[in-house]
Amino acid sequence: MTVTIVGSQLGDEGKGGAVDLYGEPADVVVRYQGGDNAGHTVVFDDEEYKLSLLPSGVVRGKVGVIGNGCVVNPETLFDELDALRERGLEPTVRIAERAHVIFPYHQILDGIEEDDKDDPIGTTGRGIGPTYEDKAARCGIRVGDLLDPDALRDRLTYVVPKKRTTVEEFYETKTDDAFDVDHLFETYRAYGDRLAEEGMTVDCGSYLGERIEDGDEVMLEGAQGTIIDVDHGTYPYVTSSNPTAGAACTGSGLGPGVIGAGEIIGVVKAYTTRVGNGGMPTEIAGVEGQTPGYEGGANTSEEDEKLATYIRDEGGEYGTVTGRPRRVGWLDMPMLRHAARVSSFTGIVVGHIDVLSGLDEVRVGHSYQLDGREMETVPPTTSGWERCSVNFRQFDGWPDVDWSVVARDGYEAIPENARTYLEYIQAELDTSIYAVGVGPAREDTVIVEDPYK
Ligand code: IMP
Repeated sequence: MTVTIVGSQLGDEGKGGAVDLYGEPADVVVRYQGGDNAGHTVVFDDEEYKLSLLPSGVVRGKVGVIGNGCVVNPETLFDELDALRERGLEPTVRIAERAHVIFPYHQILDGIEEDDKDDPIGTTGRGIGPTYEDKAARCGIRVGDLLDPDALRDRLTYVVPKKRTTVEEFYETKTDDAFDVDHLFETYRAYGDRLAEEGMTVDCGSYLGERIEDGDEVMLEGAQGTIIDVDHGTYPYVTSSNPTAGAACTGSGLGPGVIGAGEIIGVVKAYTTRVGNGGMPTEIAGVEGQTPGYEGGANTSEEDEKLATYIRDEGGEYGTVTGRPRRVGWLDMPMLRHAARVSSFTGIVVGHIDVLSGLDEVRVGHSYQLDGREMETVPPTTSGWERCSVNFRQFDGWPDVDWSVVARDGYEAIPENARTYLEYIQAELDTSIYAVGVGPAREDTVIVEDPYK
C-alpha cells in the first residue's frame, strides 16, 4: 500500500517528523515534487540531519526515490549523499530519469527575476521556478539526458544561448561559465557518469509499480505545503510545483487508483508559519522584508510582537534552507479545510502543540469575512485573500508539562485544554487524528492510529 504525506499549510509543518514516523514500516520513501528548496529536519539516534533534496527516509535506511515530478540539482544531491556517508550512513537513492535538472543558469535567473520584481515572491533562490518554467516550455533537460552525452550537448546547445541572451540583453547583466555550453556539458556529463556508476537512475513509475507488486510499503513524501501549491495556493506567492496529493500520482508515475487506495495524511502545525511574501490573514505581528505592509513594528502592538517572537523562538521557526525568520500566525481553519478537500485527507498529524503551551489563551482563525460574507474556506483569488478579515475563536491555554511523559503515556495524557483544541480541528476537518507531535524527536509523538493497519 501507499501512504502519502502532504503539508496542509505553507510548508514547514514538520513533515520530516511525520515521514520519519510513518516511514518506519515503509520500504521505499518517494519525493514527488519540488527540489532542494525543501528543508527537512530529521532527528534519529540523537543526531539531527538536515536534508533539502533527499527523502528523509534515507536516514533510516529506506530506499529513497526522487520522483519524476522533482527538479534535481546534482550538486546538492551528491553533497547530501556524501555528507550522510561521512556520518556513517549508507543511503540508497534512486532518481527518476524523467526528473528535470536544475542548472546554474536557473539559479542565476531565479535571483535576477526576483530582484527585477517590485513585489518579489521571496523564493529560496535554488532555481526551482526557472527549472519548472523550462519543463513546461519543453526546453528542460532531464536526468536521463545527463547519461546520454549527445542528447545533453544538443539540449544545452539549444537552450543556453537563449538564457544568455535573456540575461545579457533583457536584464543587462554579465554572464559567466553558468552560460557556457562547453563548461556545462563537461560538468553535467560528469554528474551523469557518477549517476550511471552508482546505478542510481530508474524509470520511476515502473520501478515503484514493481516494488508495490512485490509487497513493499511505499511512502510518498510531499515537500512544501498546500497553500504554496502553484494551483491551489496564494498564487503568485507560491512554489512552482504541486505539493498536494494529486501530484503524488503525476510526480511518481503511480496512478490515482494506487494513491487513492492508500492513506493520505495531512500534516498540520498547531499554528501557522510562512516564509516569504503573500497573504497570511491570521499573522500575529510581521517580519521585515516578508510581511506586506509591515513597518518594522510601527503598526503592530508590543504584545503581538512579543507573542510572535515567543512562538518563533519556542518553535525554532527559522528556515532550514535559508535561515530566514518565519512569519508566525494563529491556526487558520479556512486554509486547513481547503487543504483537506484538495488532497482528500484520510487522517491528520497535528504537531507543535508543546510550542503553544504556557499561553493564557490560544486563538484560531475559524472563518474569514470577505465583502460582508462569512467564508469557511479560502477565496480563489489572492487579492480576495488579502482582503479577508478573520473571525477568531478563543481556546483556554494549556500548561507546559513534561512532554516526553505525555508521549509515553498516550493521548489521554495530553492536557485537557490541548485535547479540546485538537478535537475541534479534527471535527472541523471531518477526519481522524493519527498522531500528535509534542516535540522535535520521533519519540516525542503521541501515536493514535497506525495508517498501515
Ligand atoms: P521557490 O520554491 O524557491 O520558488 O520559492 C517560492 C515560495 O515558496 C517562497 O515563498 C518560498 O519561501 C516558499 N518555499 C519554498 N520551499 C519551501 C519550504 O520547504 N518551506 C516553506 N516555504 C517554502
